Amino acid sequence: MDTSNSSPVLPISDLLASMVSDVQAGLGHARQKTLPSTYLWDDIGSALFDTITLLPEYGLSRAGERLLKAHGEEIVSRMSAPLAVAELGSGTAHNTRWLLSALCRRQPTTYYAIEVSRWALQRCRAELATIAGLTVSEIPRFYLEGLEDAVGRLPRSHRLLVLFLGSTIGNFERPAADVFLGDLRALLRPGDALLLGTDLQQSEEALLPAYDDARGVTAAFNLNMLARLNRDLDGDFDLRQFCHRAVYEPRHRRVELYLESQRLQRVRLRKADLDVELGAGEAILTEYSHKFDAYEVTTMARRARYRSVAQWRDALWPFAHTLLVPD
Ligand code: AVI
Repeated sequence: MDTSNSSPVLPISDLLASMVSDVQAGLGHARQKTLPSTYLWDDIGSALFDTITLLPEYGLSRAGERLLKAHGEEIVSRMSAPLAVAELGSGTAHNTRWLLSALCRRQPTTYYAIEVSRWALQRCRAELATIAGLTVSEIPRFYLEGLEDAVGRLPRSHRLLVLFLGSTIGNFERPAADVFLGDLRALLRPGDALLLGTDLQQSEEALLPAYDDARGVTAAFNLNMLARLNRDLDGDFDLRQFCHRAVYEPRHRRVELYLESQRLQRVRLRKADLDVELGAGEAILTEYSHKFDAYEVTTMARRARYRSVAQWRDALWPFAHTLLVPD
């Protein structure tokens, strides 16, 4: 594992400052209190998400894995050599190993794992250790900064395949997803490509249990955000006084996650110099998970100046991988 050039996400003081301003803005909001979903992803959040991927109700990750296992070879065969791979939010790279193994059978490969959770990077290192011919370069930064870093390290002779898997694009609001894909597009050169994972629409009955599972793992994942704020902002959220809620919102075709206050309560976050009053039943919005039509992926990509060259869909769970090239 090459970690020699890795640099931290941001100085701790900058991270804290942006958390303070996000939390002040989100919880000070009169109509709908919100907390940015990025704060779900500390080490404990990443470990809980890893458990979510094992749940019978959450078919999304297994669908992504089946697709990479079945089509990894074909995906890499569509790209010219020498090829490097960069993944935005690598997580543990559990699914990605199928594609990397296929590529390493063709050529020695550098994989840039862009990931802010140190826990996930450690697991990623272990997951990929047995793939012969693979060099893993850890980049503990946010997506686009990390990609810029990877592009800077890439030898000029190499093409780059960027992976944005697991439908993380669905966690952006739709206009923000367009902007993000456009910003990512600006970092690609001719011959590079983006493999985009998207969770497709299905009935509310099938979808909601994936975000409100019987074992309560998603609830723990959501509530962990409050524990994180308690730790980082010296807060006194009482987690037992909040309930996890998942709601399907058909107008925007998305699942929305909330933390609902069980009674009238006041919370203090000392490092943000903030007192928050929450009424009984008042809910804090913590995450969107948008669902897509398969054709919509292509139109969304076109708006951001990509051309779709191939799409693979899973037969058991409505999920697609789309290979996009800069137009
Ligand atoms: C990472 N992301 C695609 C997950 C999703 O399905 O939207 C995050 C998640 N939140 C709750 N369960 C899973």
